Amino acid sequence: MVVVIASLKAVYAAAAIVVLLLLVLFVYRESKGFKVVRYSFVNGKLKVGHFKMAFISDLHDCELSAGNKDVLAAIDEEAPDAVIFAGDMVTSSLEPGYHDSKALKFIKAVAEKYPVYYGIGNHEEKLRRCPEVHPGEFEKLLGRLREIGAPLLIDEKASAEEAGVDFYGLDLEHDYYRRFKTRHFPDDYLERKLGKNDTSKVSVLIAHNPEHFSQYAAWKPDYVLSGHVHGGIVSLPFLGGVISPQLKLFPKYDAGVFEEGGSVMILTRGLGTHTVPIRIFNKAEVVIIDLYKESDKTTKEV
Ligand SMILES: [Fe+2]
Repeated sequence: MVVVIASLKAVYAAAAIVVLLLLVLFVYRESKGFKVVRYSFVNGKLKVGHFKMAFISDLHDCELSAGNKDVLAAIDEEAPDAVIFAGDMVTSSLEPGYHDSKALKFIKAVAEKYPVYYGIGNHEEKLRRCPEVHPGEFEKLLGRLREIGAPLLIDEKASAEEAGVDFYGLDLEHDYYRRFKTRHFPDDYLERKLGKNDTSKVSVLIAHNPEHFSQYAAWKPDYVLSGHVHGGIVSLPFLGGVISPQLKLFPKYDAGVFEEGGSVMILTRGLGTHTVPIRIFNKAEVVIIDLYKESDKTTKEV
């Protein structure tokens, strides 16, 4: 009898180890790699027939493969007219020498080939906000980004003139990233920071935090490009992303396309991880956005 019980215990222990290993393997596989996600829209304000954007957010200084070469290859395959970074490409816990970090090397490689429009995220913002922790690092980052041709858009506009597309980089203050409760900004906040939206052009608002989409939409951008939420880290069927960086469960905006008041928000799941280094049913992504001047059967009217 004693021998039987001992054997049963050994079988259960072995089964538990196998289940645990399978679980670890599953999480590892889910958290690795990335996919290319596509959206297309028609916008009559475009000055060219077709304008293609590659959109990435939240790399968090990660390397998905050596030198992020797979990501670069995916961008090259698309040959976009512009590459947009919607913040948190670096992290706020930078080691000395980060100017040669994985993120900066990746950004440089992209900027050597494509026009880059880089909006600020809360991690870049934290470098500025906490100079006692990171003395001079924010200024160094700004200088390095300018050098490599990917200047950070801090409440600034940059244009792809020939295509009639304006990119606005919103510098959202720390107050509007606070946990648990959404703080609304004053109604004239965007206009004070970015000026009037030139609605004769296609306007792309790069705003890292999607939580304020309703307020962004009041400024009437055609498109809002956001990240920050990492798809909710774990995505469940029917329920979507589980948790946001503001520690909200099942956030309204987790990933995908949202529409309000004539504006469309494209919210990416991001490319890297931070704090919680896993993704489940929530593959990292590079987003490709095709804008067409005229409609055809394959595109979505906006
Ligand atoms: Fe973020």
